[in-house]
Amino acid sequence: MPSIVKALNSQVGRKLMTGLTGIALILFLLVHLAGNLTIFASSTAFNAYVEQLHSLGPLLYVAEAILAFLFLYHAVLGINIWLHRRKARPENYKTYKTKGGPSHQSLASKSMIFTGMVMLIFLVVHIIHFKFGPYYETTIDGETVRDLRKLVVEAFVRPVDTFAYVGVLVLVIFHLSHGFWSAFTSLGMKHNETSKRLQLVAYGFAIILMAAFIFIPLYIFFTGGEGALISY
Ligand code: HEM
Repeated sequence: MPSIVKALNSQVGRKLMTGLTGIALILFLLVHLAGNLTIFASSTAFNAYVEQLHSLGPLLYVAEAILAFLFLYHAVLGINIWLHRRKARPENYKTYKTKGGPSHQSLASKSMIFTGMVMLIFLVVHIIHFKFGPYYETTIDGETVRDLRKLVVEAFVRPVDTFAYVGVLVLVIFHLSHGFWSAFTSLGMKHNETSKRLQLVAYGFAIILMAAFIFIPLYIFFTGGEGALISY
């Protein structure tokens, strides 16, 4: 086996790649959020943004394939690390003393496998819901385009869709906050005062990012899709 493949396949290599793919996925989330927030910019901005994306044609398919690979690779690595840890703890999570003092486990770190699984299921449902959901049409400057804005508003005036999304997006906060911080420790950061501060930054970042996502369904729901920011 070539040494680079061997290194990536080691436990340290897998942890490193989980961190790097996680950071790439966070960058995707930032871009996705910026695109989603155009729903508040004007009545045509969101559909124009989606249309612009789709006009990339084959390039968009390549980007989607890379994104799907990143999500799946990240998930496989995460499941693998979790299984490895479980096997390495025959006493089944009984507390035990380590040389380095108490372990740095939090609710977020202990629930990574659960929040990760929920996100994977969410992603499948989410893509079927919006990307492959009902096809409405509208016109922008005389050109017929997909009216995704109508589909999003239609979804989030319904309580079930709104609160299911909000529930999952809250879980994503836990996943991101631990994942973001953990990525830095995998890149070599030691557990010390700086890493504690970084952990707080990671929590703050995850909360702000997801609060912005959560604002979209909640705003649409509580204004019945007719609030000043969203009205046609
Ligand atoms: C309020 C929250 C969200 C809204 C309103 C939203 C909206 C959308 C819409 C409208 C699409 C379809 C775009 C198209 O057909 O071109 C989409 C696709 C997608 N969303 Fe979201 N999204 C939200 C949260 C999330 C989150 C939290 C994630 C990741 C964890 C995510 C991941 C994706 C992915 C991977 C796609 C497919 C992209 C593609 O294939 O081009 N979304 N989203």
